[in-house]
Amino acid sequence: MRHLLTLNDLSFMETRQLCQAALLYKQSRYSRNISQFPLADTTTVLLFEKPSLRTRISFEIAAQELGGRSLYLSPQEVGLGKRESIADVAHVLSAYAQTVVIRTFSHTIIEEFAENASIPVINGLTDLSHPCQGLTDVFTIYEHFGPHRPITIAYIGDGNNVANSLLQTAAHMGMSIRLAVPSGFTPNQKALQNAEKAAIYTGADIHITDNPLEAAENADVVYTDVWVSMGQEQETKQRTQIFAQYQVNDTILRAAKPDAVIMHPLPAHRGFEITDNALDGAQSIVFTQAENRLHMQKAILALLAGDTYVFANKSLALAAE
Ligand code: CP
Ligand code: NVA
Repeated sequence: MRHLLTLNDLSFMETRQLCQAALLYKQSRYSRNISQFPLADTTTVLLFEKPSLRTRISFEIAAQELGGRSLYLSPQEVGLGKRESIADVAHVLSAYAQTVVIRTFSHTIIEEFAENASIPVINGLTDLSHPCQGLTDVFTIYEHFGPHRPITIAYIGDGNNVANSLLQTAAHMGMSIRLAVPSGFTPNQKALQNAEKAAIYTGADIHITDNPLEAAENADVVYTDVWVSMGQEQETKQRTQIFAQYQVNDTILRAAKPDAVIMHPLPAHRGFEITDNALDGAQSIVFTQAENRLHMQKAILALLAGDTYVFANKSLALAAE
């Protein structure tokens, strides 16, 4: 039994295997030649304390397409640690379900839940990290550029949950990453240290600057996320001023490689962290990125369910590298 709370729960080899498995799921979605149903007769509960479109729907459909059921508990219903202690909820859900996906505020909530759960717990976003997003992001880059092109990602904006996870998945994949963040908004120190540890083996280069143009220069991927994350709404005015120079727009795109792609986890705040032109232009792959959440959630669910079929598949070429 294992959890996925942050990227520290995966080896860099497993990150690569997950990308390969997600690709297999994507290619075989309608042909069902991965004809196993690793979640048959199981229930995946989604316990969400913040809103969601992509994470909720992709996990629900992934669980169902892998032969299982899904059940969603909305922010109004949960009351984790309020209506009932976190530990008690973990014990109760462990008896009913086989997997739980949690979206919450403080990362300590999901840690306490996992300590008391006897079923796999998946982080569907906390204030600290968004591992399923980070895994999808590197899968999308790998799918787009193939395994042979050396990749540099320019992340521009807030050193938030999405940045923390992308930093680590990029390092796992050997993709270099430059983060342009204002001072005081750098990524989490532990996430950075863990990324640097992985980078020793994978050869990824990690660089932090406060200059968006420096990060974007000759980059293969230009990535941004909202300036105001869920739960930070009271800081909107202050953050909008601080991040004003960290917008992904035509100037940033001109600095990147001509065939660079634009990524954003969505939802986007158009006209703030990204312009309409950038988000809707030919270089944007944001909707492929959103679609890929589904394929990656399948790979994650299968891995945590102990599925041997998709992970033992001979075509997991990356894993064999
Ligand atoms: N990217 C992402 O996690 O989207 P949702 O908040 O809609 O789940
Ligand atoms: N950083 C954003 C990501 C949303 C998918 C947030 O936490 O709100």
